[in-house]
Amino acid sequence: MRVTIITAFPEFFRDFLSTSIIGRAVETGLINVNLINLREYGFGNYRQIDDYSFGGDGMVLMAEPLSKALEKAREGHQGVDTVVYPSPQGAMLTQEMVESLASREHVIIICGHYEGIDERFAGKCVDLEVSIGDYVLTGGEIPAMAIIDAMARLVPNVVGRGGAVEEDSFFRGMLDFPHYTRPALWEGDQVPPVLISGNEKEIDKWRKQQSVQRTLRRRPDLLSRANIASYLEKGVYL
Ligand code: ADE
Repeated sequence: MRVTIITAFPEFFRDFLSTSIIGRAVETGLINVNLINLREYGFGNYRQIDDYSFGGDGMVLMAEPLSKALEKAREGHQGVDTVVYPSPQGAMLTQEMVESLASREHVIIICGHYEGIDERFAGKCVDLEVSIGDYVLTGGEIPAMAIIDAMARLVPNVVGRGGAVEEDSFFRGMLDFPHYTRPALWEGDQVPPVLISGNEKEIDKWRKQQSVQRTLRRRPDLLSRANIASYLEKGVYL
């Protein structure tokens, strides 16, 4: 997995790219992430990258510095790339979109700030505009981290054993089942006995049932997309 981030605030990513699962994946070369500082492509002594929005409020990232930074991101890579622009106006990011992105040769993420990016650059260069939810953040850096994190966990060996990625084919479109850890009794509350029974078949069935029940209660909207037939085949009763 190869990702390039174009941002005016590369410092946002330093801890993210050096901590925990993502930090290990970067260090061991399982994922390759490059940062491009948009400011380096700004105009003049002040490295100007933004200007007033024509006809309205706020600042907008200018097309030319973005275009130069994109050229840099593509330098030395003739292959196909996918340019992603996180914005609240984008299509809602789903696991399916993440899976599709994770299979691309080179994903370039453009982080907007202030009121966003010049629409002419977006029209010419952006392949996919995505939102991570119906709320507005101050910039695209946090959404970029969310996208990279979700993509990275699909790369083999990034998430260790028990990381649940292998279960995804069955659980596609369903919510996860509840998890418990030691102690088995906490403040008078016992974990479901099946989980300490040692019976793997029963545990598997219980988890699938919980997963379906949770989805029905909390996110019934997901069920229209989930593959109910495969649940029934596996002996899960609603
Ligand atoms: N930039 C600002 N808010 C955003 C959101 N909700 N999703 C993606 N990018 C954003």
